[in-house]
Amino acid sequence: MLRAVLAAVLAVTTTFGVILPTAATAGPIEERQAIMKANGRDTKMGGDMLKGATPFDAATANKILANYAAAAKAFPAHFPAGSNTGETEAAPAIWSKPADWKAATAKFQADTAAAAALKPTDAATFGKAFGMVTANCKSCHEGFRIKKG
Ligand code: HEC
Repeated sequence: MLRAVLAAVLAVTTTFGVILPTAATAGPIEERQAIMKANGRDTKMGGDMLKGATPFDAATANKILANYAAAAKAFPAHFPAGSNTGETEAAPAIWSKPADWKAATAKFQADTAAAAALKPTDAATFGKAFGMVTANCKSCHEGFRIKKG
């Protein structure tokens, strides 16, 4: 339905010679960045709880861990061939070292699943689970993300 509408819009606008930015449709780059943005938001929220900036809440803590596990599962599907150029911070190593990339995404999935399975009811256990997950952020970004700006 959305595609049909977009196609119609494109057909109309190209008739009048208007060039739409390609960002008008959410491609794999936007999709994977949205997953990572959510990771960033959850990490800020979890970090605030662990620092005591916000009170520990078990339901929120478990939701954050469930989000991580879902993100880790969904993330690797958004790196098709050809999505290495454009407005992306994805490093060429994702495509040139596929075995290493697969290992990094598999580790992220395993660690997020193990962290969620801890089902923390106190801040100390949440801290342990949070640490298991966030070690992946750093290691994967070092190898597979080229931060711009
Ligand atoms: C398996 C590898 C991997 C792991 C693990 C990972 N990231 Fe990322 N992250 C990436 C890649 C690759 C990009 C660049 C995506 C792009 O620009 O196409 C990225 C981008 C980001 C961005 C920028 C998103 C944007 O474009 O606005 C944030 C924020 C982020 N990651 C946070 C996190 C946090 C927090 C964690 C841990 C909970 C994490 N990441 C774990 C690979 C990973």
